[in-house]
Amino acid sequence: MSKILNLAVLPGDGIGPEIVEQALNVTKAVCAKFGHTLTYEYAIVGACAIDAVGEPYPKATHDLCMKSDAVLFGAIGDPKYDNDPSAKVRPEQGLLKMRKDLGLYANIRPVTTFPSLIHKSPLRADLVDGADFMCIRELTGGMYFGRPQGRSEDGNTAYDTCVYTREEVERILHLAYKYAGQRNKKVTIVDKANVLATSRLWRQIGQEIAPQYPEIETEFMFVDNAAMRIIQWPKSFDVLVTENLFGDILTDEASVITGSLGMLPSASVGIHTSVFEPIHGSYPQAAGKNIANPLATILSAALMFEYAFGMMEEGALIREAVAASMDANVVTEDIASNDKAYSTSEVGEWVVNFINKK
Ligand code: IPM
Ligand code: MN
Repeated sequence: MSKILNLAVLPGDGIGPEIVEQALNVTKAVCAKFGHTLTYEYAIVGACAIDAVGEPYPKATHDLCMKSDAVLFGAIGDPKYDNDPSAKVRPEQGLLKMRKDLGLYANIRPVTTFPSLIHKSPLRADLVDGADFMCIRELTGGMYFGRPQGRSEDGNTAYDTCVYTREEVERILHLAYKYAGQRNKKVTIVDKANVLATSRLWRQIGQEIAPQYPEIETEFMFVDNAAMRIIQWPKSFDVLVTENLFGDILTDEASVITGSLGMLPSASVGIHTSVFEPIHGSYPQAAGKNIANPLATILSAALMFEYAFGMMEEGALIREAVAASMDANVVTEDIASNDKAYSTSEVGEWVVNFINKK
């Protein structure tokens, strides 16, 4: 069935514009192939928005996201803010505001391996070969948003507050069980219940919810142990669900075991429009050089078709095209295994051609 898809396109900073361009071209090719009508509009976010209008997530950008069916996002961040702790306005605030204002309470990061990349993994091939799990990170609560946050008057004491409500924990745990039901039927709830009050709430609610899903195995794990298990036995996970800060850390760890950060997409879903973005950052050193790997963003477009539009065939075609480009060694320098590395746009064009010819 053909549909009309309205996208908000937010390239952001650094390599964002280059990789998003390729993912958008792929999206256009898929829509043409399946007879969908695509409309899209660009908006600014991050450091480029601070430069243009003084704030990292302007209202005009939010309004566009709200009226769109999905948001395709690149990356935010600029080195000029990283080493300046006194900067009052920071690109990252835009990302947090976008998550909060769009109600994106769940960040979903599938961790899958690519056969041709296994030799790039920092782990032994036998440990990662076949690893396939999904991290679900709570995205709008916890320490990132808890108040009070600040400094004492003399500047020598600083504090953050971790807050979770029952409602926030329940909705994300139910989401984890929903996905586990479609996968290998195991949920690992990661917390620090031996120390933190918020974690004890997570664990208590987990214990209440688990019996509602008798077909799914529930495992509770302390976050320090989980950090170890991800590298020791990644294949033991199916769906890992955790709070915001733990999830931030564990998902970076999980992302590299598959061989390349440049390959992994993510979806942020919740109350309003969902956002699809690569998990790598703005990679400022590569900006404008046409060398960044566009595949994580292209795979984010695949997630967009699947999660935002329920279009599984469209998503599958993108995955097939990405796998084919890797088999054909048409890849950027970060994952090239021989001397020949292709540019960002060459990889994108190859994927588009593959889709057109299908
Ligand atoms: C991420 C990033 C962000 C986060 C930063 C840029 C604020 O690391 O999306 O994981 O910590 O959530
Ligand atoms: Mn992070």
